Amino acid sequence: MRMRKRRNLAPRMERCAELLISEPEQMKGKWKDLLPGCGVLWLELGCGKGRFTAELAETEPQVLLVALERVPDAMIIAMERAKNRGLPNVRFIDGNASLLDTFFGAGEVDRIFINFCDPWPKSRDAKLRLTSPAFLRQYCDVLPVGGQICFKTDNTPLFDWSVSVFKDEKWQLSELTHDLHADGPLGIMTDYEAKFYAEGMKINRLVATKTAATLGTAAGPVARLKDASLTDARGYAESRAAFENRKEQE
Ligand SMILES: C[S@@+](CC[C@H](N)C(=O)[O-])C[C@H]1O[C@@H](n2cnc3c(N)ncnc32)[C@H](O)[C@@H]1O
Repeated sequence: MRMRKRRNLAPRMERCAELLISEPEQMKGKWKDLLPGCGVLWLELGCGKGRFTAELAETEPQVLLVALERVPDAMIIAMERAKNRGLPNVRFIDGNASLLDTFFGAGEVDRIFINFCDPWPKSRDAKLRLTSPAFLRQYCDVLPVGGQICFKTDNTPLFDWSVSVFKDEKWQLSELTHDLHADGPLGIMTDYEAKFYAEGMKINRLVATKTAATLGTAAGPVARLKDASLTDARGYAESRAAFENRKEQE
């Protein structure tokens, strides 16, 4: 996500300090203590400006929702949304999803949301996609058997590529659709999703469930990704760039 530098980032972060977990490594294995009585922890990767984060936390008050984002200029908007709604059950990590296993213990996370992650269309960048094999193995480690990943994207080449990675890594797939909102808006939309939906773009979604056969990091190194470019990368990159430009002017 290309972002304008937010003015007053530091004081705005300070005002939302109670929502930020500044040393997430210290919380490993203890996250659920943050919300007494809560038995469930959900994790959103790349929350961006947090429309989905705030609405999900409000809809599911018994769930502790942790939102992780590596761009603080986007995350501050998500944090302010959560603070303005007075949500007691959401926390934020300013960090990279590649460090997930340092933040969460084995089986500690019950569900992971990956919404409109960056597609990284070039083959040489495929390992950075949040649905690449190395990421899926980390997710496997922090989820229990039966734990789920909910994945949404407008990018069909990324979605189709991800489906094959999930299958190779032995996740059980369900609720797979290439047009989530075919019969009208369904579920909580993210910031990106609301824009794409308004523009008439189709949204892909699937749920991947961990089984006893799903591969984790103990299964060893992942094979080198071959021929992993996304086929319509050029056209997609241009439309995403146009979208970002429009957003910057808003
Ligand atoms: C295209 S935006 C989507 C934002 C939001 N999920 C939505 O749907 O509106 C992708 C977001 O994921 C974040 N992101 C990408 N890779 C990440 C990573 N490895 N760790 C944490 N955040 C990441 C980006 O900074 C960006 O804010």
